[in-house]
Amino acid sequence: MPRKILAFAGSARRDSYNVRLLRLAIAGARDAGAEVTLLDMDEHRFPIFDEDAEARHGPPAEVTAFKSLMKAHDAFLIASPEYNSTFSPLLKNTIDWATRPAPGEKPLECFRGKVAGLVSASPGYYGGYRGLQQVRYVLGNIGVIVLPDMFALPKAHEAFDAAGSLKDAKSLEMARAIGATLAKFQSA
Ligand SMILES: Cc1cc2nc3c(=O)[nH]c(=O)nc-3n(C[C@H](O)[C@H](O)[C@H](O)COP(=O)(O)O)c2cc1C
Repeated sequence: MPRKILAFAGSARRDSYNVRLLRLAIAGARDAGAEVTLLDMDEHRFPIFDEDAEARHGPPAEVTAFKSLMKAHDAFLIASPEYNSTFSPLLKNTIDWATRPAPGEKPLECFRGKVAGLVSASPGYYGGYRGLQQVRYVLGNIGVIVLPDMFALPKAHEAFDAAGSLKDAKSLEMARAIGATLAKFQSA
């Protein structure tokens, strides 16, 4: 059975570098045989998580729909911006909502036993790698197996060509390899 990957970014920005990089990693995954669903996070915006609001109203319908998508996939390909040395509030809020158990759900059902591949893009010199380390930490603590290799693209504002690919062939190969490795990963 092909691996079913849910791909999303921690940015809903229209010209997001992370979404552009994600598309290249997705191409690597698809070429390696995976089925990939790419989400536009502009269509998956949740209110900032608040326990009182959750107790009063339950999860918003859009959270329940997002969790259904997560449960229908066995892997995640995530592109995360770096904000002040960590990952974006959009990604953190998405993860926080998705960890909340609905009646009948197992604890951390959206996450446990899933595999994730991580990439990031930034205009800075580190490419968002510091943020990726935080994503790895959080996902690992909620039961996700995160691929050892991560790819961070520095100077993202200069890195893409007009067709949306990367000017540097080695960087393109590394981005695609995250997707391809995720497509083929087998846990022991
Ligand atoms: C509040 C804020 C903090 C930022 N902090 C960092 C940072 O610590 N490291 C970094 O490389 N880029 C930082 N940036 C720049 C982002 O990498 C840049 O805005 C990037 O384009 C965001 O990703 P996107 O293009 O996918 O939306 C920051 C941007 C914002 C808005």
